Amino acid sequence: MSYIKTSEEIKLLIEGGKILGEILEEISHMAVPGATAFDIDARAEKLIKKAGGRPAFKGYRGRKYDPPFPSTICASLNEELVHGIATKEKILKDGDIFSIDIGMEYPVRSSKIQETISKKISNYKSSRGYFTDTAITVIVGEVPEKTKQLLNVTKKALEIGIKQCTVGNTVADIGRAIQDYVEPQGYGIVRDLVGHGVGHAVHEDPRVPNFYEKDGEQWELRPGVVIAIEPMISIGDYMVETADDGWSISMKDKSLCAHFEHTIVITEDGPLVITRRPCEIF
Ligand code: MF3
Ligand code: CO
Ligand code: CO
Repeated sequence: MSYIKTSEEIKLLIEGGKILGEILEEISHMAVPGATAFDIDARAEKLIKKAGGRPAFKGYRGRKYDPPFPSTICASLNEELVHGIATKEKILKDGDIFSIDIGMEYPVRSSKIQETISKKISNYKSSRGYFTDTAITVIVGEVPEKTKQLLNVTKKALEIGIKQCTVGNTVADIGRAIQDYVEPQGYGIVRDLVGHGVGHAVHEDPRVPNFYEKDGEQWELRPGVVIAIEPMISIGDYMVETADDGWSISMKDKSLCAHFEHTIVITEDGPLVITRRPCEIF
């Protein structure tokens, strides 16, 4: 399994990424007061399957003995940052911010046999399809200006990271640029979670931190490299904690936090963002 994807692989990644961006945009409109994370999740799963894909997070285990992730989307509310479970009890209300993270393996054939095979294969090998990964934080109803600013800064941080995705740069340039933009404004950058290589599996090498890390200098951005950049930014401190459910990760100080993510292919002509939502394309 190479860290450089072939042009045939990239073709399928582009196809999957486009579908995933469209699905994320569609379900993001469901984030209104009174909606449940469960209903949004059910819609996401339906749309993914209809498109010929498989929800990449459902059944995912971080480590062999971790509990499998139960939902199609990661549904994280307010001080929850990532990996929130999409339950019926998670009801959106006016003034909330809601992060939706979604991953898809595409294309897949949905026969029973294929499903059995894929269960036996670990997260680190792809059975057949290609993986894309994207996230947004949306506002529910009305929120204060300060909250909107957090979302804008996090979204901008992602675009700043994407700009660094040119041939000749390294993964370290991405983190440095994001950090130089975010930290002087007084926000916290989460350290315990980072972006990643993606394509044959949800998570591949290299780590793509949202801060400068020396190790990143050994990962050159060459044509065919596919990564997910995903700044996770908080109004308060950057420390996080995991809930008793074994998945939901929140800010330790309960401060508001935001998360935006795209899957990017490095090309000779610069970054190709393959999970753009229709509303982002102009
Ligand atoms: N979407 C996360 C990421 O962006 C991974 C989620 S894994 C899950 O890297 F199991 F929590 F869904
Ligand atoms: Co993600
Ligand atoms: Co990711």
